[in-house]
Amino acid sequence: MTSTFERYQRIAPLYDLLDLPFEYGRYRKIRPLLFQGLSGLILDAGVGTGRNFPFYPVGAEVVGIDLSPAMLARAERRRAQAAAAVDLRQMDVTRLAFSRHTFDAAVATFLFCVLADELQVPALRELARVVKPGGPVRLLEYTRPRGALRRALTKIWEPWVFWAYGAGFDRRTEEHAVAAGLEILESRFVVDDLIKIIAARAPA
Ligand SMILES: C[S@@+](CC[C@H](N)C(=O)[O-])C[C@H]1O[C@@H](n2cnc3c(N)ncnc32)[C@H](O)[C@@H]1O
Repeated sequence: MTSTFERYQRIAPLYDLLDLPFEYGRYRKIRPLLFQGLSGLILDAGVGTGRNFPFYPVGAEVVGIDLSPAMLARAERRRAQAAAAVDLRQMDVTRLAFSRHTFDAAVATFLFCVLADELQVPALRELARVVKPGGPVRLLEYTRPRGALRRALTKIWEPWVFWAYGAGFDRRTEEHAVAAGLEILESRFVVDDLIKIIAARAPA
């Protein structure tokens, strides 16, 4: 079976192109919401090709980590779009090489819909560990819609999304966040009943 590492090494050259309609149709409007009020040292987990770069807060320092060197190489080329200082590193979110309480905040966009169920709590525990006590942890994630039509469409779309990205619509990230010791502050849909922002806080 193809691993997440292999998948993203394979898809990296095409990633931005394949995602273009979604990036401009959906994501560009909602990415800035994730960074509102953040400052200092921020972790962007699963940074991918650097699509969050234009929305990093001015003057912040951001460490972007990703499993895939090929995705990071694409991000490297986008570095100039960031108003923050950016440090890119290859790392697994379930085993972060940072001391506890290193970051003022952590964000992850469309990472947890990619992570298998058994990796969700370990990854969220790592975010809870490396963020300062009470600091913000914010996630942007796909969910399975409730409406019959959208639900049916995601079922049709899902095999392709899994083949290409290893992503699913059925992750229970909110539940896992609580299990990992994060306190959920807000969970709200930002695109229909399909994409959610989950705002949490690291344990005090
Ligand atoms: C769907 S992409 C999202 C990329 C980017 N955050 C965005 O919003 O466009 C998911 C990213 O998570 C990375 N990833 C998957 N599993 C990971 C892991 N265990 N640790 C770190 N990054 C991981 C993939 O390599 C990929 O770049």
